[in-house]
Amino acid sequence: MKWSLIAVVAAFTIVSAGTQSHLLRGSPVNSLCADLIHPAGYSCTEDTIQTKDGYILALQRVASRAQNLTLQYGPPVLLQHGLFMAGDVWFLDSPKESLGFILADHGFDVWVGNVRGTRYSYGHITLSETDKEFWDWSWQDLAMYDLAEMVQYLYSVTNSKIFLVGHSQGTIMSFAALTQPHVAEMVEAAALLCPISFLDHVTAPLVERMVFMHLDQMVVALGLHQINFRSDMLVKLVDSLCEGHMDCSDFLTSITGKNCCFNASRIEYYLDYEPHPSSVKNLRHLFQMIRKGTFAQYDYGLLKNLLIYGLSKPPEFKLSLIPASLPMWMGYGGNDGLADVTDVERTLAKLPSRPELLYLENYGHIDFVLSTSAREDVYKHMIQFFEAKRKYSS
Ligand SMILES: *[C@@H]1O[C@H](CO)[C@@H](O)[C@H](O)[C@H]1NC(C)=O
Ligand SMILES: *[C@@H]1O[C@H](CO)[C@@H](O)[C@H](O)[C@H]1NC(C)=O
Repeated sequence: MKWSLIAVVAAFTIVSAGTQSHLLRGSPVNSLCADLIHPAGYSCTEDTIQTKDGYILALQRVASRAQNLTLQYGPPVLLQHGLFMAGDVWFLDSPKESLGFILADHGFDVWVGNVRGTRYSYGHITLSETDKEFWDWSWQDLAMYDLAEMVQYLYSVTNSKIFLVGHSQGTIMSFAALTQPHVAEMVEAAALLCPISFLDHVTAPLVERMVFMHLDQMVVALGLHQINFRSDMLVKLVDSLCEGHMDCSDFLTSITGKNCCFNASRIEYYLDYEPHPSSVKNLRHLFQMIRKGTFAQYDYGLLKNLLIYGLSKPPEFKLSLIPASLPMWMGYGGNDGLADVTDVERTLAKLPSRPELLYLENYGHIDFVLSTSAREDVYKHMIQFFEAKRKYSS
């Protein structure tokens, strides 16, 4: 019983069948600049910041071949990845296909965020990854500490308001952080891919099933704090699960919805980089959103809520607090099993501003970062939006 539960959790984000053993291949990837960006001929430097709660985060700064580090940089843009991903996801395809490279080619000063727990930002001033306290956080901490402090850092280094790009969990973090006036005022405009603040219309079948089974609570009962797909245990479990009673051949569809346009023959290569670790508490928080349909802080249960928040229910993040004057652009897809259109519409109704929208009927959740045609379908429009704001503000 225990084993199969862990296996299902592991299976939650494994991208494809038949490639699980691949997760163990090669050493852990720790230098984004050395692994993906320098080889493509781009300049890349890395800064680290320390969050107020002690995590050490890496931020890469990328510029195109045409520039170099002593030159004047263009407008800063911060890329914020999604769940079980890290900053590598913006650079996995060719320079002509990947958003990180494309923005650099357009003269943007590209900064790459990596949240706590990912392999690029794997550190804390006092805690080690084997301490359960190291994993005591969810997306609200990623928003209020990691993202807020990255924005602050870029703002002070570049002396300029920044453009913000988020995907998936990166959009949850963005919405939450932008409800804070001191964060919003440092942001020039935000472009959100697969925007999520409400999650109760998730249609990805395996996710629905795990939420229904209360899998998150069972995992906590097993004493797990970290979800790390590269641990021997999880790799073996997923292997056996997929060889056994579960059809893993369409795994990505069962956890994210149907994707139209990424290159499936590259999955083994993608698995050299993704997935990255996250915390069990984060998964629980996301499951709370799916169950309750709220965009609120972590629910500890009645007694602990009273202790921590002074309220029986966790306080909600109010989208109405995001300034109407903050320009926003959103790209969302008709086949996205996580950022469902119904939930996106509810988000839109709650925002004081009228974001510019790009709806792609055939796009799924992963297509927005890995589609081979995203440059034309998505990024071109995002860059037009940024350049219009840039002209307007300068
Ligand atoms: C970088 O730009 C500066 C200023 O234009 C120039 O002096 C320097 O030679 C350039 N460095 C490289 C490595 O191209
Ligand atoms: C898909 O990826 C493979 C392996 O990298 C590559 O050889 C092929 O050209 C790609 N196909 C398309 C349509 O991009």
